[in-house]
Amino acid sequence: MEKLKRRGKTIGFVPTMGYFHEGHLSLFRRARRENDVAVVSLFVNPTQFGPSEDFKRYPRDMKRDMLLCKKERVDYVFAPNVKTMYPGGYQTSVDPGKLASVLCGKSRPGHFRGVATVVAKLLNLARPTVLYLGQKDYQQCLIIQRLVADLDFPVRIKICPIVRDRSGLALSSRNTYLDEKGKSAALALIKGIRWFRAQVRNGARDARSLEKGVRRILMKAGARVDYAEILDARELSPLRTLSGKILLAVAAYVPAAKRRNAKREVRLIDNCMMKISKGGSI
Ligand code: PAJ
Repeated sequence: MEKLKRRGKTIGFVPTMGYFHEGHLSLFRRARRENDVAVVSLFVNPTQFGPSEDFKRYPRDMKRDMLLCKKERVDYVFAPNVKTMYPGGYQTSVDPGKLASVLCGKSRPGHFRGVATVVAKLLNLARPTVLYLGQKDYQQCLIIQRLVADLDFPVRIKICPIVRDRSGLALSSRNTYLDEKGKSAALALIKGIRWFRAQVRNGARDARSLEKGVRRILMKAGARVDYAEILDARELSPLRTLSGKILLAVAAYVPAAKRRNAKREVRLIDNCMMKISKGGSI
């Protein structure tokens, strides 16, 4: 990579955990289009999964993923194993600070420490010019932006829009756990987001009652709400009245397809960002 850079080539980098869908591919295409070289990492990072989470069961299909990379004309795929990334004696980690204490950070303790650590390692290994991230993981984007600024990584970050299926469900590798019942509960996430957007467009500004409304939509569809919160989109701090750049972030457990050794629920996330100007217009 250093050699390529010395020759003046730009490197676009997309870190992933594999089991690719159109969301991943949209990042690959953008990295490809905007740089001389496109690099993808594929590593299911154990340190970002809690002890009772789905690390072992996380969907994997290396063969298909490699074919998709080839089809998308990705130049390099970095797919290390766990021992390469975390050899015996490994003990350093990156503490992401306050942004990691809310939303997913609250319900998945240690998750963002794992993410920040692996992303720092991957940036040091790939030395990219531009790092591509998906808005689907909004909190992850903010934490990585902070990490890059605070630890002086010489990389630019581009955040790409959420890719959804035709019904509006945000694509996720974990959607593979869903059957029909799970899918219909999962659709409540986008239903809640659409309801929220419509309410805000109609002038609603009270965060608590909007959060309540979103939670109600989720529960009615059979989803177990982890959180539905409206926050300041830059700081992830709580808001009482909506103004400026705001974020609705949602996480919910929906029923999983019945499979051997499978968990009964899948945790899904989604979000929506809106800008409300001082005069109240959107
Ligand atoms: P993973 O879940 O595989 O996601 C890789 C990248 O794809 C992330 O930047 C994510 O936000 C983006 N992405 C996922 N679904 C998307 C969608 N529907 N639309 C647009 N982008 C989407 O996020 C991770 O892996 C890991 O935490 C990682 C950063 C690789 C560190 O291990």
